[in-house]
Parts: sequence; structure tokens; C-alpha cells
Amino acid sequence: MRQSRRILVSGGAGFIGSHLCDKLLAEGHEVLCVDNYFTGWRRNIEHLVNTPRFEVMRHDVTFPLYVEVDDIYNLACPASPIHYQHDPVQTLKTSVHGAINMLGLAKRTRAKIFQASTSEVYGDPTVHPQTEDYWGNVNPRGIRACYDEGKRAAETLFFDYHRQHKVRIKVARIFNTYGPRMHPNDGRVVSNFIVQALQNADITLYGDGSQTRSFCYVTDLLDGIARLMATGEDFIGPVNLGNPVEFSIRELAERVIALTGSKSKLIYLPLPSDDPKQRQPDIALARRELGWEPKVALEDGLKETIAYFRTLLAS
Ligand SMILES: NC(=O)c1ccc[n+]([C@@H]2O[C@H](COP(=O)([O-])OP(=O)(O)OC[C@H]3O[C@@H](n4cnc5c(N)ncnc54)[C@H](O)[C@@H]3O)[C@@H](O)[C@H]2O)c1
Repeated sequence: MRQSRRILVSGGAGFIGSHLCDKLLAEGHEVLCVDNYFTGWRRNIEHLVNTPRFEVMRHDVTFPLYVEVDDIYNLACPASPIHYQHDPVQTLKTSVHGAINMLGLAKRTRAKIFQASTSEVYGDPTVHPQTEDYWGNVNPRGIRACYDEGKRAAETLFFDYHRQHKVRIKVARIFNTYGPRMHPNDGRVVSNFIVQALQNADITLYGDGSQTRSFCYVTDLLDGIARLMATGEDFIGPVNLGNPVEFSIRELAERVIALTGSKSKLIYLPLPSDDPKQRQPDIALARRELGWEPKVALEDGLKETIAYFRTLLAS
């Protein structure tokens, strides 16, 4: 087998995708980054464009793609509520048609294919922490459904392509991930708080800020994805990848204020509809099958992310 593989990363100009491109190139692979720049940014991959093993293709995954590849990482999908609710029909198409097109490509090329699924498949969970065998609690008609149900349908497609066509799949359910290159105004809590803190603006908390989230630093996530892709044929997921350490949203805001030395005040707004109150991964399966658990402490990850946003806001 060739050491260097031809790898397609859909959504490669996005936050997680661009870090994945960096990692795969550093490992010596050829990377084809496919992105329609809906939420991705050229800036995220600018430093790679002169690398001979790197190629960028502007392409919308809702349309078929004919290329020759060995592995596929399917990350294309707007990931934050502001972006995925902007054009809900397109969001659903991206998840469903995107999955069909990428799986069709994997079937034809016999590529191994990774799906970036999400903790949102659990909806507003009634089981805590969430294990992979929990089927979830999603409102199919709500404003988050275009994303949640889209990702659920994508999982269905992955497992059906596996059962029906023997496509080699790997599915991870990613929980809140953060780090440099997050979109500065996508409304996600970590980037929101950091940008507000760096601008000494009020920090907006929804509800009373007691709802909890777990935050996984991007390098930890990439390590989990790499371990999943390296597993044998019999392990395909879905597997939770996230940080089980929970923080309340208020606690996160207070840490960000302390680390930035900001003068920001906390203000409270009503909770948006269908916002989950609590979300925490059970990572026993990832520990057992992948020997994986997150290593980066919130404090350290926040420092890196704050440094990135400081530079970005100054440019
Ligand atoms: N960041 C997280 O906390 C998180 C959590 C769970 C799941 N995920 C999943 O991981 C993946 C990457 O998320 P991210 O945080 O990097 O988000 P992101 O918005 O930064 O990246 C998504 C990328 O997909 C591209 N894209 C969107 N629609 C497309 C289309 N139709 N055709 C081609 N490209 C398209 C965007 O332009 C962007 O570059 C997504 O599938 C997301 O659902 C992320």
C-alpha cells in the first residue's frame, strides 16, 4: 500500500476541516480540499496553497463529484445555528445530498469515508451523559431540525451504504469543539464570548447561563478522528468524540473574561427555542475502542483561541 494517500476533505476551508488539511499534509498525504466557501474561509487555508500536495476545489457537495481518492472526510455542512438556519433547505440538502454524493464517490473509488456527525443527533437529550445507543430527542419540525435531522439522515445513509454496498465507513458524533479559525461571528458560544470579551462588549448569556456544555479542543478532536480512521473494518462507529468535562455557560464566560483581562459585563437574554439544557458525551466507547480521551485543558485551549482572535481582530 502507498504510504501517501489521496485524501478528499469536504468542508476543508472550514474551522475543523482546515486543521484536518494541515494534519494530513504534515503526515505526507495529498489533500484535495473541497468547499463552497459558505462558512469556510480562504484565509483558513491560505498558508497551504503553495504546497504541491494540496489542491483546492470550489464545489458544492450537493452536486456529484468525480475524482479519484483513497480516503474521504465528509465535513461539509454549516455547523452553527446562525449559519445552518440561514438557508435551512440548503443545510438539509448539504447533509443529505452531500452524504449521497460523497458515499457514491466512496463506493465507486472504494475509498474509506469518515462522516462528521454531531451530538445534535441526540437533540435535547433525556439521557445524561449521552451514550451512542441513545436514539435522541429531536423535534423534527423545529428550527434546528434542518441540521439535526439532516445529520441523522446522513448517518442513516452511511449505515445503509455500508450494509447494502459494503462501503467502508467511520462515523463520529462530534461534541462542541473549539479552537483557532472558528468563525468570529457564527454565534457559537466560545467564539462569541472571546470576541465580545476582546472588544470589552457585553457578554450575552441565554437563559440564566446555568445550561452546561463540554468543550473539546480541536487538536484532541483530530487525534480522535485519526484513531477512528485507523481502526479495523469491524469498528465503524458511531462513536462520541468530545470532552466529558462539563462547564456552565456562565463559568465559561467568567473564564474568558479572566483570561482576556476584559471589562465586559454579563447580560442575560431569553433562551432560543429547542436549545438543549445539558449536553455531555459519554466517551467510554472511544476510550475502549480508540484508546482516546481529550488531553487539552479548557484553560490552555482558550489561551490559544484567544491569541488567534486577538490577531484576527487586529488585522
Ligand atoms: N465545530 C463543532 O463543534 C462541531 C460539532 C459537531 C459536528 N461538527 C461538524 O463538523 C463539520 C465541520 O464543522 P466546523 O465547525 O468546521 O464548521 P465550518 O462551518 O467552519 O465548516 C464547514 C465547512 O463546510 C463548507 N460547506 C458548507 N456547505 C457546503 C456545501 N454544500 N458544499 C461544500 N462545502 C460546504 C463550509 O464552507 C465550511 O468550510 C461539520 O459537518 C459539522 O456539522 C462540528
